[in-house]
Amino acid sequence: MLNDDARLETLAVHGGMDGLRTSGGHVPPIDLSTTNSLPGIESGGDSYENLATGHPLADGASAVYQRLWQPGVARFEESLAALEGAEGAVAFSTGMAALSAVLIAVSRAGSGHVVALRPLYGGTDHVLESGFLGTSVTWCSADEVAGALRPDTGLVILESPANPTLDLIDIAAVVEQAGTVPVIVDNTFASPVLQQPLRCGATLVMHSATKYLGGHGDVMGGVVGGPEDWMVRLRQVRALTGGLLHPFAAYLLHRGLRTLPIRVRAQQETAALLAARLDGHPAVREVLYPGLAGRDPEHLIGRQLAGPGSILALDLGSFAAARAFTEACTLVTHAVSLGGVDSLVQHPASLTHRPVAEQARPGAGIVRLSIGLEHVEDLATDLFRALDAAAAATDIWPGVLTNGFPAQ
Ligand SMILES: Cc1ncc(COP(=O)(O)O)c(C=O)c1O
Repeated sequence: MLNDDARLETLAVHGGMDGLRTSGGHVPPIDLSTTNSLPGIESGGDSYENLATGHPLADGASAVYQRLWQPGVARFEESLAALEGAEGAVAFSTGMAALSAVLIAVSRAGSGHVVALRPLYGGTDHVLESGFLGTSVTWCSADEVAGALRPDTGLVILESPANPTLDLIDIAAVVEQAGTVPVIVDNTFASPVLQQPLRCGATLVMHSATKYLGGHGDVMGGVVGGPEDWMVRLRQVRALTGGLLHPFAAYLLHRGLRTLPIRVRAQQETAALLAARLDGHPAVREVLYPGLAGRDPEHLIGRQLAGPGSILALDLGSFAAARAFTEACTLVTHAVSLGGVDSLVQHPASLTHRPVAEQARPGAGIVRLSIGLEHVEDLATDLFRALDAAAAATDIWPGVLTNGFPAQ
């Protein structure tokens, strides 16, 4: 039984575990049932209606069908909600499915204008810029939010630390400008261990659970946390569009939360050491890492963010240097994604941020590193060797980055 004042580490280990002891279990069972037996026609139908309209499972009612309610998914949601200080959470098959559900909910309510702060994850930028889900977007900076609002604005979206520049945004200041318009924060980079956006006044928090929450690069998922009225709307979208998290994925994500604080802090410690050592290297034009001097002008670390995290980006000055660097890394894998136990490097302009409008796309010399749990010296050896390769690279711009994504 968890005390009301249980701390984050305790919540991470014990959240969503209710009822296991009384059933004689120790970890959540993986229930793969796609359907559930119904006690009777009336009660089964009532439960179906209740769940399909987004309401939580009533005590003693049948869960009816996996797309409507799944016990392992509900356990993961309960645990994540506790970590984020949210009333509830709704989990989806991926981070993009989670974001899509939010956008569908706002556009359905007739308030499909979104105010968005760049930079955002490239997929988020793409779905907003293309209006793919019936929303329209106004891009602005953190101090332009109030002026960008319209009567039909249904959402303000931001990411902090941002992807891939690691810029920090003052969430409370954006919330104040947004007034009654809900603010959603993509908290994927920070995780609830370092930042809890609802405590800064945001209405919703979302994650690509594929990253730190899972933490091992073996499960995809997405989750949105917030007040119960929003959770009802999102569960309804999920029931109707079908982006449910698979029960095994829910199990892995729930298990991932149990080690989240210790992983996030250990990865951060290594990243901070590496950022300091890479800063000033002759082959590095700039290290983008919130923990370095001058990278947190509003002093958000300590009041909004508990630490700078374990993602950093290096501006190597040219595409050729970025290519030579990524190709020379051997311990660090050249691969998209982040937040896992092993370190990854990728080139945002040609990969994650390829769909972003050219003027807003990250520079061609920027590489993004997600620092894992390897020993800092082994990582340093790999990265410094790769920097030698970057320094020797000849600058050529092959023009491969013109993307083929449709504008609309
Ligand atoms: C910050 C951020 N938000 C959202 C997403 C989308 O999540 P997913 O890939 O799980 O759909 C990503 C994926 O890289 C991300 O980095």
